[in-house]
Amino acid sequence: MRTCYSGLVSAAHLDQVVTLTGWAHRRRDHGGVIFIDLRDREGLVQVVCDPDRADTFAIAESVRNEFCLKVVGKVRRRPEGTTNANLVSGEVEVLCHELEVLNPSVTPPFQLDDDNLSETVRLTHRVMDLRRPYMQKIMQLRYRTARSFRRFLDDHGFIDIETPMLTKSTPEGARDYLVPSRVHDGQFFALPQSPQLFKQMLMVAGFDRYYQLTKCFRDEDLRADRQPEFTQVDIETSFMNETEITGLIEEMFRTVFKEAAGIELPSPFPRITYAEAMAKYGSDKPDLRVTLELVDVADALTDVAFNVFAGAANDPACRVTALRVPGGASLSRGEIDGYTEFVKIYGAKGLAYIKVNDVTQINETGLQSPIVKNIHGQALRTILERTGAQSGDLIFFGADKAKVVSDALGALRIKIGHEKGHLDGRAWAPAWVVDFPMFEYDEDEKRWNACHHPFTSPKDEHIDLLTTDPGKCLAKAYDLALNGYEVGGGSVRIHREDVQSKVFSAIGLSKEEAELKFGFLLDALKYGAPPHGGLAFGLDRIVMLLSGTESIRDVIAFPKTQRAQCLLTQAPSPVDEKQLRELHIRLRNVQPAA
Ligand code: AMO
Ligand code: AMP
Repeated sequence: MRTCYSGLVSAAHLDQVVTLTGWAHRRRDHGGVIFIDLRDREGLVQVVCDPDRADTFAIAESVRNEFCLKVVGKVRRRPEGTTNANLVSGEVEVLCHELEVLNPSVTPPFQLDDDNLSETVRLTHRVMDLRRPYMQKIMQLRYRTARSFRRFLDDHGFIDIETPMLTKSTPEGARDYLVPSRVHDGQFFALPQSPQLFKQMLMVAGFDRYYQLTKCFRDEDLRADRQPEFTQVDIETSFMNETEITGLIEEMFRTVFKEAAGIELPSPFPRITYAEAMAKYGSDKPDLRVTLELVDVADALTDVAFNVFAGAANDPACRVTALRVPGGASLSRGEIDGYTEFVKIYGAKGLAYIKVNDVTQINETGLQSPIVKNIHGQALRTILERTGAQSGDLIFFGADKAKVVSDALGALRIKIGHEKGHLDGRAWAPAWVVDFPMFEYDEDEKRWNACHHPFTSPKDEHIDLLTTDPGKCLAKAYDLALNGYEVGGGSVRIHREDVQSKVFSAIGLSKEEAELKFGFLLDALKYGAPPHGGLAFGLDRIVMLLSGTESIRDVIAFPKTQRAQCLLTQAPSPVDEKQLRELHIRLRNVQPAA
């Protein structure tokens, strides 16, 4: 039907007659001459319709936005002063010889070049939203990224094997999406939270190097970087240790970023331990571009009169930490109040601060703050020394349960870092976070939970700690953090039955329960399971970072809202009584559909 894409017409086509197809992006009537910007997935080209050709001109007059058109015309140079450097076709235009309306369009719900559309409007009219150049670019970037991952893995001997979507629940820690069985009354499949157990069984089955770009389903609270269904680049290998796995994966990342987006990532990626990441950045996915750091000061504050500090400093479950903001003494009252409100999102009860007017005066003049009078000189000196405070700085404090302080001050660090420009200038800061703890303590249930999943191997030298001191036991687990996001994570798995039983008993899982939940995997592991490990990346998050958007919904063709709905198809939606009956389901407490 066409000889080339509209968006790719260029000076190379000068004087040629081309046939183009696409949509009328805009039509401008310049008293006698009609300009149509013809758009397809590759971009725009300007089509000029001259009144000399009366038939063509009459059709051009009838064209409205988003009509689907076919144009035959001659490529010529644009007049001096009218070139557009932003377009591939910017030096040329097409003088229209023939114009055909392939299909008219009703008036679109919005101008396609409107940058201020609400997300509800965009998702309700997603088809038209996807037609916008912004979305066309992102979806192409997503495709190039996925292709590049596949190509790298193919070239390195990984084979793509599909795993079931209707399965048994996997232990990734979120709520499952369940699918009722018609055949088996009262029984349910779960949609996979990840292919974790299947990929381990593929290793036992001898496939050695596996990968899959696959959908995962998790019913959890949604955020800007989370979707109920998302795509993992899922990988598992046999006979590779932690260093070998992370080494190969780094190479993959450098290759993919270069191929898909022309981005050079550093080599090697820095490695930081979980303990260091939490101490300095309050997060296990630190944004290393931000130059601000947290400094713990609890040990210096155990005997101060300010109770909020002393109380937390004397409680081993708590943390007292300081965040120095260079030049922060100039922050206004309003700004400080704003930050105080911000940390409350993370459960903080307040945000104490000291304005360092003059670092040499350890008193209420040099150090301006509502709390200074209740903190003795030695403690103040330690705070200034440890944070490296200078005159003109401001120091924020968090004192509470360790998790609250890390979350709150970690988030504040990033917010102030970006707002006030405390950045090191790098565009991309990847880092491996390693040496995760095996377990985290669940205060409500009063028991240990696996941090990653219960098949993650402990460090060889920590196997004894599984029974003696689980809280100190570190795992062979690693995450890849990029610019403050967790883009991927994985671990070396347990392949020995005795170690596996110890882990189960550490998390209070009896032999019977383990058998019931994961019996099929435990069985498989008995048949000479090879040492194996792997990891999975969030493709959506990676494309989100590559495209510079802050919403994961921008990189998924048909995403769900924050409330886990599809505004385009109106899913989820009620179903017929007959369908429910077949599935042996009776609804309770549901208002009948209006
Ligand atoms: P994990 O649970 O860390 O590991 O998931 C791997 C990566 O998937 C992405 N991700 C998400 N992306 C969008 N929306 C979500 N709701 C969402 N949840 C996770 C993140 C995350 O780093 N089976 C293990 C991997 C392994 O051990 O091999 C797993 O699923 O980028
Ligand atoms: P108060 O004595 O409650 O008026 O608090 C004095 C200062 O300490 C105020 O700036 C509060 O914002 C701050 N503050 C209160 N609780 C905490 C906390 N848990 N961590 C850090 N700062 C706090």
